Amino acid sequence: MKAIIPAAGFGTRLRPLTFARPKPTLRVANQPIIVHAVRSLYQAGVTEIAVVVSDLTQQAVEQAVSGIEGVCISYIDQPEMLGLGNAVLMAREWVGQDDFCVYLGDNLFENGVGSYIDVFNETGADSVMALVSVPDPSAFGVAELDERGRVVRLVEKPTNPVSNLAVAGLYCFRPAFFEHLAALTLSARGEYEITDAILSLMERGGHVQGVRVQGWWRDTGQAADLIDANRLLLERLEDSILGEVHNSHLTGRVVVELGATVRNSTIMGPVTIAPGAVVENAYLGPFTSVGRGSVIQNAEVECSVIDEYAQVRDVAVRLHGCLIGVRARVVGHGTVPRVHRLILSDASTVELGC
Ligand code: G1P
Repeated sequence: MKAIIPAAGFGTRLRPLTFARPKPTLRVANQPIIVHAVRSLYQAGVTEIAVVVSDLTQQAVEQAVSGIEGVCISYIDQPEMLGLGNAVLMAREWVGQDDFCVYLGDNLFENGVGSYIDVFNETGADSVMALVSVPDPSAFGVAELDERGRVVRLVEKPTNPVSNLAVAGLYCFRPAFFEHLAALTLSARGEYEITDAILSLMERGGHVQGVRVQGWWRDTGQAADLIDANRLLLERLEDSILGEVHNSHLTGRVVVELGATVRNSTIMGPVTIAPGAVVENAYLGPFTSVGRGSVIQNAEVECSVIDEYAQVRDVAVRLHGCLIGVRARVVGHGTVPRVHRLILSDASTVELGC
């Protein structure tokens, strides 16, 4: 079993965060989203992985996944942004005659992806798709199952969904699926849709098995999803203090990585602090991750994602539910209003109360 991770698009729905970097490289729990995907595949026994990239994303994506042990990663170019169906088709030669799965690099599964691959191998189905019940599935592909769990209807982003079963971002296929991808025509939104290729497989009598997601699943399509995914990943944090901690009060599960420094601060876990970060005269509340080289000084932050080399300094109010991009700076200058909600792209600066 090989795996394809489409990562050629920038993730326009996550602007401004994705003005500077492609979505799969945004971090949750101090790891790029795509690294979580690669690790899940590795844990499921998949070690040959092709990441489909574009000129725009290749450098950042390669940097994010380089050095992950145990996997062999190839990069395949998708020259034009023509949709998921097209992205997967680009990997046809690389896949050859092997079975393969497609893992949408912005999706996170609490319990990994092994169970879908197991069902695929055990049932001999032509395809397996992960499906998840959500209150409003209209932003997703939506499936209807028969009593044996086979997919009998599939509609991409329907206005009136036939069920509440959304397509989560993990599919397994046999190599013959490429014939359906190669025969696709452009959809109304000008893309080659993987959903249309699956429909074509179903029309020709293919067995497409739905497998329900156990545990949580998140598609990190919007800013709020990233904060929520960060929270869910930090829920299973195990405490470990390898960095320097001076005159501080740590409660709950806290990770202070080697090379991080915490001084005169109160930290209430789950919180993770990456190497090179400095937390000083600060309060860090639950579900906060502080990226490599970031500085939190004279400030209070909770439920937030602070990416690498960011600074939050001298802020007189507590920051809650924030996404702070790489090298972004939040700098306070005295009296400020009581609540701020900040979504900052990389390298941005916000000055408060000046
Ligand atoms: C894609 C698929 C959709 C699926 C979703 C899951 O949509 O086309 O069927 O439900 O991923 O994340 P996109 O997020 O590319 O709009």
